[in-house]
Amino acid sequence: MLASQMGIIDVVVEILDARVPLASRNPDIDSLARDKKRVLVLNKADLADEKTTALWEEYFTRQGFFALAVNAKDNDKKKGGTSKLTATLKKIMQEKIQKQKQRGRINAPIRAMIVGIPNVGKSTFINQLAGRAGAVVADRPGVTRGRQWLKVDGEFDLMDTPGVLWHKFDDPHVGILLACTGAISDNVLDRITLATHFLEIITSHEPEIVKKRYNVEICGNMLSLLEAIGNARGFKMKGGVIDLERTAITVLDEFRGGKLGRISLEKPS
Ligand code: G4P
Repeated sequence: MLASQMGIIDVVVEILDARVPLASRNPDIDSLARDKKRVLVLNKADLADEKTTALWEEYFTRQGFFALAVNAKDNDKKKGGTSKLTATLKKIMQEKIQKQKQRGRINAPIRAMIVGIPNVGKSTFINQLAGRAGAVVADRPGVTRGRQWLKVDGEFDLMDTPGVLWHKFDDPHVGILLACTGAISDNVLDRITLATHFLEIITSHEPEIVKKRYNVEICGNMLSLLEAIGNARGFKMKGGVIDLERTAITVLDEFRGGKLGRISLEKPS
């Protein structure tokens, strides 16, 4: 569907997760949209480390993209940052708008396609941008919605598309990062393993976050660390055994909800 619609699209707006900007980029989009102008939205910037997000903006700009950090959840369009998209689209399409004016076509719309993996915040982003009540917002990866067009500021036609993942992760670490952020459903994963991977990533560059939040000493064995966290929280089952499943869910939920602070799991090299 994306490929068949590409011919009528002027700009492709790719929504990424600011905490994992590389892992949340669908490589298929690169080939599908190779001839198109591209905007990368670093969404959920409120959950990511601010300095790291600024570095990602620079990184993508150097690669020739237009990159914008956004918090689509903010009720204020200006503060949240989606209003920057309108200005960026105008800048990108200046030449086309000018040419159309010369041909007497004054109000020809700019057509932008919104793409992104499931749960990255496409609906929330569109709601903030278009102020449209009623777009489906659900924390259920895999929910498919049909194609729809939206009018924004009377000047842009925005095509919403269903969230798509690619069918094989060449790098298993990408799958782990996406699972940590909730882009892949928890139901298909072993949460304890996932939580130990998460703890490994976070303690390798910011051990203080875990130490402070859970009041535990950092050790090299992540399963033992998870156990220590469960112990500190009093998550015990019959016989005093630590409930690792509950501990894992808690750690992952607290990260996803921003309770561990603003954390970027990927940093530009
Ligand atoms: P999708 O269309 O790409 O699948 O994603 P959707 O907009 O449904 O958003 C998925 C979840 O991410 C939602 O959480 C949404 O509120 C949250 N979200 C989207 N953008 C942002 C952002 O910029 N910052 C933060 N912090 N969260 C964001 P949810 O738990 O399903 O919904 P709710 O409990 O917030 O209502």
